[in-house]
Amino acid sequence: MAAGSVVFSGMRPTGRLHLGNYWGALKNWVDLSRDHACYFCVVDWHMLTTGYEETSGLQVNIREMVLDWLAAGLDPARCVIFRQSSVAEHAELALLLSMTTPLSWLENNPTWKEQLQELAKTKHGILTEPKKGKGPLEGLSEPSVQYGKVAAEVLSEQERKAYIDRSLRTSGFLFYPVLQAADILLYGGTLVPVGQDQLPHIELAREIARRFNSIYGQVFPEPKPLLTPAPRVQGVDGRKMSKSYGNGIELAEPPESLKTKVMGAYTDPKKIRAADPGHPEPCPENPPGCSIFALHKLYNTTWEKRRVECMEGRIGCVACKRDLLAHLDGPFREFREKRESIERAAGEVDRILDDGAKRARAVAAETMKRVRRAMRLA
Ligand code: TRP
Repeated sequence: MAAGSVVFSGMRPTGRLHLGNYWGALKNWVDLSRDHACYFCVVDWHMLTTGYEETSGLQVNIREMVLDWLAAGLDPARCVIFRQSSVAEHAELALLLSMTTPLSWLENNPTWKEQLQELAKTKHGILTEPKKGKGPLEGLSEPSVQYGKVAAEVLSEQERKAYIDRSLRTSGFLFYPVLQAADILLYGGTLVPVGQDQLPHIELAREIARRFNSIYGQVFPEPKPLLTPAPRVQGVDGRKMSKSYGNGIELAEPPESLKTKVMGAYTDPKKIRAADPGHPEPCPENPPGCSIFALHKLYNTTWEKRRVECMEGRIGCVACKRDLLAHLDGPFREFREKRESIERAAGEVDRILDDGAKRARAVAAETMKRVRRAMRLA
């Protein structure tokens, strides 16, 4: 990795983080911040691109997430931790970049197309009943929308399309990658640690930078994605750990619910008695693999032994789960204690974010001077 590279990454403020967030992203951020200049941004404006109707929890979610960042080892002395909305230059640069970004690049963004469909299904498309006395479209974007019943049962295909158009196909959502490009380019970010799903966005950021440079002269370095070699973190139901599946273990999971989740977690449905041979890894007999074994791999240095014992029917799932809990106890306790001590220090999170915003603003202001000059705005 080239010295002098600038690392930038962002996370939408979804509240408390789970183990998938930690092993998939956060741990990598902490490692990078040891020997790179790093910016880690709470992208609250990005949150609005899809969550513009539900902003009541935003402040709490930001705080909860930043507490997790800090407790996981992100150190404000080693990296810049800040909120996107505290640095107005993100909006200014995004606006200017939008001038040179062809609409077709955004419309062909595969992430956008997929997310649009996904959101229509999982978030807005699910409702119990349309409001009485009104056309179905009126009822849908209101708080009366509830989870439970698929929209297709209530809406015609045409109504569904109209709803998606009005509530999900907003210009802000389409504009998402332009704002993301601005995030990175404001700080001359060259390395962007992200998951696989973000690759189209980073590619767009590169193209946006290239086009700007070719029109106005060299201002931005081209950012490169840094794919985290993330271990697969399974949720307690065997699927990928995800907030929307509700199958997560939080980083700050309290001991009681940690125990409940682990003891109830998905293992190998074919291993009924302790002496039955188990299938800990994903295989045709147990396609998702055992979620407990996946956690042993992350938290138990002697996981190899566990695997053999399981496969040879020398340990049962209950004993294996208890043993995992014993390995989780220390790290989870340490994390919770660190988190609580930061929480107890009144105003600490706000101080860190304010200080980060100051440092970010200083760099962003310099970049914007060069951008305005290049564009002859100044
Ligand atoms: N789109 C990213 C995600 O959902 C979040 C993000 C916003 C980001 N701006 C960024 C990631 C800049 C990396 C760099 O995960």
